[in-house]
Amino acid sequence: MKLQSDPIIVALDVPSLSSALKKAEQLDPDLCKVKVGKELFTKVGPDSVIRLRKMGFDVFLDLKFHDIPNTVARACEAAADLGCWMVNLHASGGRAMMETAANAMAKLSNAPLLTAVTVLTSLNDNLLAEIGVGDGTLLHTTRLAKLANSCGLDGVVCSPHEITSIREEVNDSFLIVTPGVRPLGSAVNDQARFATPIEAIKKGANYLVIGRPITEARDSRIALIEIHSTCISLT
Ligand code: C5P
Repeated sequence: MKLQSDPIIVALDVPSLSSALKKAEQLDPDLCKVKVGKELFTKVGPDSVIRLRKMGFDVFLDLKFHDIPNTVARACEAAADLGCWMVNLHASGGRAMMETAANAMAKLSNAPLLTAVTVLTSLNDNLLAEIGVGDGTLLHTTRLAKLANSCGLDGVVCSPHEITSIREEVNDSFLIVTPGVRPLGSAVNDQARFATPIEAIKKGANYLVIGRPITEARDSRIALIEIHSTCISLT
């Protein structure tokens, strides 16, 4: 188990810059990083990353790139120019795409961590079979994580359900970032396969992506402090 000193990434799933900044004001950049996703970035653009960085936050730009190798590598370089701390792509883009992006990052002094999404958790075995993958989600997820590791990526994003299987197949330094985390007693919302922060870390997660249990808490600042101290108690 390799726990980062600040393992929490708060998902700022909001539609405007003002609401993102308002949420961020309730958070402490010493206790968490933040995640900017497709909705906020499409509406607000690079300003979302720039303003959050100015507040002291490390920013995970969660745009899940999936395109030809050159296009993805250039997009990752653009994320590096913005000063992102982490950026991601789809492992199903294959070896050439991942290696080209990883090689582009290796040349930079300010490279973000590069992580890969394996199989979207919205897919199940039947939906995966329909697009030609008959091996099931767990096997395919683990296979894509191994491929991402061999292509020089820094880690993967996967559900808590897949951590154990992936951890057995990748280097110890390979990062596992997991959403679907719910502290005991908090609302499950639409997460079907979730784990508590302690369960996810014990299974081998390095970073936990947590949204609504923090952003929709009565007091986000206290919710973050509580979850952070639970995680740190494991070190
Ligand atoms: O509010 P909640 O904690 O459910 O937010 C989780 C975040 O992680 C959201 O930004 C969601 O899009 C993202 N995510 C997820 N499940 C995945 C991949 C990403 O919930 N498999």
